Amino acid sequence: MESKYKTLSALVYDFNYPINQEIDGDITFYKPHLLPLENKILELGAGNGRFLIPFLRYGLKMEALDNSPEMLGLLNQNLIDYNLQTTIHNFDVLKMNFHQEFEAILFTNGFLNLLITQENIYQVLKNSFRALIKDGFVMIDLIYPNIDFKQGQQIQNVFQIHGQDITVTNTFAEINYQNQTTTNIIEYKSEKITEIQNFELTWIEQEQILEILKQIGFSKITFFKRSRHTIIVKAYK
Ligand SMILES: C[S@@+](CC[C@H](N)C(=O)[O-])C[C@H]1O[C@@H](n2cnc3c(N)ncnc32)[C@H](O)[C@@H]1O
Repeated sequence: MESKYKTLSALVYDFNYPINQEIDGDITFYKPHLLPLENKILELGAGNGRFLIPFLRYGLKMEALDNSPEMLGLLNQNLIDYNLQTTIHNFDVLKMNFHQEFEAILFTNGFLNLLITQENIYQVLKNSFRALIKDGFVMIDLIYPNIDFKQGQQIQNVFQIHGQDITVTNTFAEINYQNQTTTNIIEYKSEKITEIQNFELTWIEQEQILEILKQIGFSKITFFKRSRHTIIVKAYK
């Protein structure tokens, strides 16, 4: 899958969601689940390290997977700033091929929603199962669309980042209940460049993910309702 995060979108993400920034209290929520772990943990779509770096600072063996060179550039810079190091897996998650390596695999901040099709979701969960050691687990943020979504509605914001103004125009293009997808067209404009992010997201109902996880072989499946739009599911190998 092609990376959706380019120069401006990665910069804006890093500006809005810097290291340690909570999203719906996620870092605090994950702490009791992760702090006891002694083996390696993999964060899928680790991006700039917002979530990863606090856990590296707690001494966990967190590794990153991401396929956006721009996001990985920011992650490397943030690791240097915090005087930390880790292993970075720089490839598309659909190509993930680990075998019994990780005690936990994390789908943070809607990573699963980015996978677009049910086939991709199945494949990544199956590959995650194989990548886990015995008694390892996955934790997956499930994010649901805002039902106030109005087609054509636009929101514009201007961010001043490293001395340049970046205008972000987010257009809610479509919600498709049949395919369970939303599409936003997000334009990022600086004095020098314009980038368009065609942002398609899928959502998956609790019963659907429960069925898929069971089919793959996961057990002890628990759902945690986090907010109006977010549920986290934890499932063990
Ligand atoms: C919204 S950011 C989240 C960053 C971080 N997990 C957090 O919670 O702040 C999503 C990240 O997933 C990465 N990503 C999206 N699709 C991917 C794929 N198919 N393979 C690997 N990384 C992917 C993007 O490059 C981006 O850095």
